[in-house]
Amino acid sequence: MAKYLIQKSAPLKGEVEISGSKNAVLPIMAAALLSEEECTLRDVPALRDVEVLKDLISYLGAEVNRIDTNTYTIQTREIKSTEAPFDLVNKMRASFLVAGPLLARTGRAKVYMPGGCTIGARPIELHLKGFRALGAEVRQDEVGSYVEITSDRLVGANVYLDFPSVGATEHIMMAATLADGPTPIQTAAEEPEIVDLANFLNKMGARVKGAGTETIKIDGVEKFKACNHGIIPDRIEAGTFMIAAAITRGNILIKNAVNSHVKAIAAKLTECGVVIEDTDEGMLVRGDVNPLVSTNIKTMPYPGFPTDAQSPFMAFLTTVEGSSVVIENIFENRFMHVSELNRMGANIKIDGRSAIIYGNRHLEGTKVISTDLRAGAAMVLAGLVADGTTELSEIYHIERGYENFVEKFRKLGATIIRIDD
Ligand code: EPZ
Repeated sequence: MAKYLIQKSAPLKGEVEISGSKNAVLPIMAAALLSEEECTLRDVPALRDVEVLKDLISYLGAEVNRIDTNTYTIQTREIKSTEAPFDLVNKMRASFLVAGPLLARTGRAKVYMPGGCTIGARPIELHLKGFRALGAEVRQDEVGSYVEITSDRLVGANVYLDFPSVGATEHIMMAATLADGPTPIQTAAEEPEIVDLANFLNKMGARVKGAGTETIKIDGVEKFKACNHGIIPDRIEAGTFMIAAAITRGNILIKNAVNSHVKAIAAKLTECGVVIEDTDEGMLVRGDVNPLVSTNIKTMPYPGFPTDAQSPFMAFLTTVEGSSVVIENIFENRFMHVSELNRMGANIKIDGRSAIIYGNRHLEGTKVISTDLRAGAAMVLAGLVADGTTELSEIYHIERGYENFVEKFRKLGATIIRIDD
């Protein structure tokens, strides 16, 4: 099993280029199944999750060609199967997002349940609620191992979401593009990834309005046209490197990030004393100006503080003056990194969905594991300021969602190597 060896590094300095967004490209690759025409995707991050989804849509009938490292063409002249097999869906939750496009294009989708993950149960009842509202029939087997969704003809309808779920908003938006008539989605998620998906769908000829607001309206169309789309930069990767500048008391120029997408992270870092300047070349993040102090965080749907930046930010809060409180409102089990940070000498107490972080801790390198994608990133940040060597295992979690992670850190002066056992 591969692992990272990380040593205490000098304050990180230099510039980093942000890659295309994992959470934007995955639903867009699924949405390409809606069209018979060619879709060209640029700035696609070279990630394991992208490979998994490529294999799944290829299995379903898509011709996927990799033009270069970050450019793909996808054309699905014909859907060859309406069943997404367990062994492909099981590798990654986002695979479930092929259900809506299959249903809209063929009137049937049978997809094995993605199941939960370390951060939570991850139910999908809001996705299914949306499909039922569009007139589809949803069947599950006794043990709930798969859902089968059928419809002779989807018909536009009003969909009210009980929670602004990112996945449910994306899924219903995709299915509604080929339904008869209008579909307003109320309490829609407003994340930038939703807007990027809507922009891609509209380039294909869909009629989606209001993406990025709490009410999205989709008017169904008959068919799509070829399109060419660039994936937005990854705001969580950008946030991770902003926090890296803070925790190492460094000075990093973040290039190719969309500043408005990381406003909440920037606001919280500024409360801690970090200096953030927008320059022509990018966003300059300086943790080397002021003594850094504590703040409190509540994770919220966008534009609130992103749950995906919670664990890296918590690693940082262990190193500042004073105590902080972090409340995780989105996932019920997203504190798996706490015990790993405490093994490095942090002092964090959990009470249900709240964690109290006692700051100003001196971290010591030891053997720790990545419990999930973002927790893994948090452990890398902690390793960069801990005395001695931090040996981080189960790094496959990290490599699912961060492109060239080690190379980007090394370029900033970090002492980190990847070793294969
Ligand atoms: C997306 O997951 C992201 N994944 C997650 O990023 C991110 O943490 C999450 O949105 C929130 O921002 C991708 O885009 C591939 P949700 P998703 O549906 O769509 C509950 C990362 O680290 N819920 O908005 O699954 C759910 O259990 C990953 O990159 C229901 O109860 O998130 C959760 O508590 C992790 N019923 C909350 O809503 C439903 O039907 C938010 O889930 C759907 C969701």
